[in-house]
Amino acid sequence: MTEPNKRANLDLSGYQPAAGGIAARARAAAAPAYLSGLNPEQRDAVETLDGPVLVLAGAGTGKTRVLTTRIAHILSTGRARPAEILSVTFTNKAAREMKLRLGQMLGQAVEGMPWLGTFHSIGGRILRYHAELVQLTSNFTVLDTDDQIRLLKQLLAADNIDDKRWPARMLAGLIDGWKNRGLTPSQVPPGEAASFGNGRGGKLYAQYQERLKTLNAADFGDLLLEGIRLFREHPDVLRQYQNRFKFILVDEYQDTNVAQYLWLRLLSQAPGQTSPRVGGVVW
Ligand SMILES: Nc1ncnc2c1ncn2[C@@H]1O[C@H](COP(=O)(O)OP(=O)(O)OP(=O)(O)O)[C@@H](O)[C@H]1O
Ligand SMILES: [Mg+2]
Repeated sequence: MTEPNKRANLDLSGYQPAAGGIAARARAAAAPAYLSGLNPEQRDAVETLDGPVLVLAGAGTGKTRVLTTRIAHILSTGRARPAEILSVTFTNKAAREMKLRLGQMLGQAVEGMPWLGTFHSIGGRILRYHAELVQLTSNFTVLDTDDQIRLLKQLLAADNIDDKRWPARMLAGLIDGWKNRGLTPSQVPPGEAASFGNGRGGKLYAQYQERLKTLNAADFGDLLLEGIRLFREHPDVLRQYQNRFKFILVDEYQDTNVAQYLWLRLLSQAPGQTSPRVGGVVW
């Protein structure tokens, strides 16, 4: 990890403080308490606030600690307010851990971080604010797997498709897979769409999406897929979030699927541009 500006400034001055010298000790003494206890690599990752930063390190080596300390650093240096930081991760467990650790570092302030959570909880919140733009109302229901299967069974029965030969659970798996890859019904490759129910998989996916709208419901995959559609079809809404989030941090980045990646990429682009903006942080 590098911090080019800082290094360049040091070189220009023609002075490099010796490790452990007075200047280094003075800097260490002036460092805020939350930075002490980090190793040099962690500290570098925490203090590098301009441009994207990716932390790659083994299991249990302190990545989440870097992420939470980085949030503390962003807040305490005034680079962003709590509501301007998007901090997401894959599982509820990891999100809880992030919140807990940040709470220990910041105290009550963590309550003021409305955009810290799982992809699904944050994606769901954004979708509720703009539900009518994706043909829902703000109190839409989130279906669990059992509800999803029940609904698909109805669709299979209506289409006279033998549920024994073509189980609803199998179709649910296919639809989840498509959604995790960011594919709406019209975007599913034809060969895959035809792989279920004697060529009717794609049509069933489309019917399922229609039924969800009629029921004012979304499944788990929709919380991101419909969010992506919302952002693509309503650039003004996307711009609002791009402007809001000064920093984006992702824990457990290796677990992100295509839909999560697309959702993040849309949010991390500078308004009106197609490349990731400087200052967004993808973990
Ligand atoms: N520089 C450090 N000095 C001492 N302890 C540390 C340091 N960095 C992290 N730890 C501790 O090591 C443990 C693992 O840290 P952390 O959970 O941040 O690692 P991780 O890389 O996110 O792990 P995982 O791969 O499980 O997600 C924690 O108890 C944390 O407090
Ligand atoms: Mg971790």
